[in-house]
Amino acid sequence: MRFSSNFLAQAASALLLSSGCQAASVQRRADTCNGYSELCDRSYGNVSFVGAHNSYAVDVNNLFANQDYDVTQQLKDGIRLLQLQVHNNNNVLQLCHSECSFYNGGTLEDYLKKVKTWMDANTNDVVTIVIVNSDGFAASDFASVYESAGVSDLSYAPDQSTVTYESWPTLGMLVDNGKRLVSFLASGADFSSVPYLIDEFTNVWETAYDVTDTTFDCEVNRTKGDSGTQLYMINHFLDKLVLGTPAPDISKANLTNSVSETGGLGIQSDTCTAQYGRPPNFMLVDFYEYGGGSIFEVAATNNKVEYTASSIATPKPTSSSSSSSGSGDGALALGVPGLWVSLLCTIFGVGAGMILVV
Ligand SMILES: *[C@@H]1O[C@H](CO)[C@@H](O)[C@H](O)[C@H]1NC(C)=O
Ligand SMILES: *[C@@H]1O[C@H](CO)[C@@H](O)[C@H](O)[C@H]1NC(C)=O
Ligand SMILES: *[C@@H]1O[C@H](CO)[C@@H](O)[C@H](O)[C@H]1NC(C)=O
Repeated sequence: MRFSSNFLAQAASALLLSSGCQAASVQRRADTCNGYSELCDRSYGNVSFVGAHNSYAVDVNNLFANQDYDVTQQLKDGIRLLQLQVHNNNNVLQLCHSECSFYNGGTLEDYLKKVKTWMDANTNDVVTIVIVNSDGFAASDFASVYESAGVSDLSYAPDQSTVTYESWPTLGMLVDNGKRLVSFLASGADFSSVPYLIDEFTNVWETAYDVTDTTFDCEVNRTKGDSGTQLYMINHFLDKLVLGTPAPDISKANLTNSVSETGGLGIQSDTCTAQYGRPPNFMLVDFYEYGGGSIFEVAATNNKVEYTASSIATPKPTSSSSSSSGSGDGALALGVPGLWVSLLCTIFGVGAGMILVV
């Protein structure tokens, strides 16, 4: 059989065309990732994200609250890392602070459903969740909740249980593949059964937390791996001691979240960048909206992208903010009398529930 050269040329160009089309569909590229075109080509480990410490602990004038606004508003305003404490409340995975009798922020499932709703409406965004497994649930217990909340399909599972900061996929790849939720579990991870619940401390190191000194050093405080190749998180929330117990120092939140004031996020971030030659991947803050977006400016600087101020939620009035104007020790008011009881119970080691019934 003989083919004319014309036929061969046509066949060749058809082949080229079809393989070209295939390549084009595989290479469909997100044009914006987490709000910036520059971030699509950037490895996840080469991006600095701002996180809400105890994202679910939302209230005003409450010692156990770390945020004024709920997760939906946090995400809307630009928070892309959500830190959670999961407790066992009658075998339900519950978002509580210290203990469920102190602060109960609802179920993990309801919370994750809110995250899913937001992510479904914002398909070019990568979100990270960091979970403190306070009562030792198994990875499979978390997986059941991820499945019922509909976020397991959105979850990124690495090929290996340990990923160096340089080996993460780009944000564009995570977005294109629809695996845009990255979850770390501080303890209890099991790569062989639930690979998308990534062990935090073999992959991430952290600075100290519950800091009461505005110095905010950059020393490696918690890790189970090689800090030189891990992602890292700075815990940038200032506490003060209330009856010996650390509680958020909301009176200094504007300064703590600032770009360049004493104790500001920008200062710690710059210190760590100088110390390690790369900026923090994760920056956890309390009351993220204090500073009017300053925390997002710090992240933009770290990411070498242009910061454009956008309007975000404004701080909710605290009962102390009317009486003192930044004297520095405007006391955290406790609106709920039960909280004082709870706190005293912690200190004296009495079952809070029993006392509260009285
Ligand atoms: C990303 O990598 C470049 C090159 O190593 C580095 O200069 C930059 O600081 C990194 N940025 C972040 C946010 O990790
Ligand atoms: C972590 O930080 C806390 C608070 O500063 C400190 O007491 C503790 O010794 C540190 N642990 C390590 C291992 O650096
Ligand atoms: C924080 O800054 C805002 C805006 O400048 C201001 O309205 C508010 O009073 C400040 N809050 C505190 C506690 O300093």
